[in-house]
Amino acid sequence: MARLLITGGAGFIGSHTCLVLLEAGHNLLVLDDFSNSSPIAIDKVSELAGLDASSASERLQLHRGDIRNQDHLERLFTSAKEQGRPIEGVIHFAGLKAVGESVREPLRYWDVNVCGSWSLLKTMDAHGCRTLVFSSSATLYGLPDLVPIPESAPVQPINPYGHSKAAVERLLADVFASAPDAWRIANLRYFNPVGAHPSGRIGEDPLGIPNNLFPFVSQVAIGRRPRLQVFGSDWPTPDGTGVRDYIHVMDLAEGHRAALDYLFAEDSQKITVNLGSGIGASVLDVVKAFQAASCRSIPYELVARRAGDAAITVADPSLAAQRLGWRTRRSLADICLDGWAWQSANPNGYRKKEA
Ligand code: NAD
Ligand code: UFG
Repeated sequence: MARLLITGGAGFIGSHTCLVLLEAGHNLLVLDDFSNSSPIAIDKVSELAGLDASSASERLQLHRGDIRNQDHLERLFTSAKEQGRPIEGVIHFAGLKAVGESVREPLRYWDVNVCGSWSLLKTMDAHGCRTLVFSSSATLYGLPDLVPIPESAPVQPINPYGHSKAAVERLLADVFASAPDAWRIANLRYFNPVGAHPSGRIGEDPLGIPNNLFPFVSQVAIGRRPRLQVFGSDWPTPDGTGVRDYIHVMDLAEGHRAALDYLFAEDSQKITVNLGSGIGASVLDVVKAFQAASCRSIPYELVARRAGDAAITVADPSLAAQRLGWRTRRSLADICLDGWAWQSANPNGYRKKEA
């Protein structure tokens, strides 16, 4: 089993992936600055994985730090080597992800997402650690011409967040081309990650008013928000509302394990795969499914379209099935049941009081 560095491991997708990797037997170093997460998430992961105090220090180490701080990265890689257990691979989640914020603060997005990835790659290269799984995004496809979207679709982002992800994929392509016999790289282009671990003990914990549909719907269901605004009811979709490919975060976490297994088993290479279900659900489908799961009513109003939205984004997930042997196993109903288990047990997320 490998020793892995997980950047951004305390975040939404990172915490669920840490659990899956611990259950698969890997030993993890988590590096996170907690700018959008809480260390409590890692405590919960440790409990869920059944680690006691002595095994936790061996299997799940938490380091507070910024991926842009090269001295810190250098110390992590060096001390792992000195302990005789070097870091063998990295899953790189750390980054900023809010589209609207990226339009207002492009410099910060390029700094954290692009410079942060550069600093990580530089340190990995210097230490001969050349296995990387990168959190890319379906946002790269912009407003797609073809749905379901294959990986061969043009990369045409329409906001700074998307441009920053495209820039990192570009950087990774260049780094790979410089030493194709050395690097093992997987770009995972996630569609819409949602839901929570079925225990309801870890989940998504957005700060402030959520921008995304799922956390907003769950906060309406729990009574933190009065109603959902549905952005557009005149899209060219069956019920007029936007259609997305929602993927259960546990399926996504398992996709990371599959990608890592694949990279470790194969010769050096770079792969780029969509992680999605291939199934579209509209905003109103989500509202209905969440009402059924929570037995709560979710008031909503139909309002104008949100700028920059696409009508439909759904993955063609066939490449991931073919190359990684991975496909989603959980339904929209599972997503809502597990998301509700988290929201109802933790009305204010990891915080005791509302943020
Ligand atoms: P998240 O914000 O919950 O997790 C990101 C983690 O990175 C957080 O714990 C945050 O504190 C940490 N972080 C941020 N900047 C850092 C820095 N400079 N140094 C160290 N740690 C830092 O987000 P998430 O939903 O778990 O997303 C994880 C990754 O997946 C991100 O790169 C995101 O862009 C990508 N992604 C997310 C989605 C989505 O809808 N959630 C979709 C596609 C891609
Ligand atoms: N929506 C509403 N009301 C809301 C929020 C969203 O009607 O309050 C609608 C949107 O218009 C869209 C759908 O719900 O039709 C999904 O919207 P999200 O904001 O949840 O997700 P997006 O598909 O817009 O984008 C998300 C992330 C991106 C990422 C993309 C693909 O925000 O960063 O998924 O992974 F790139």
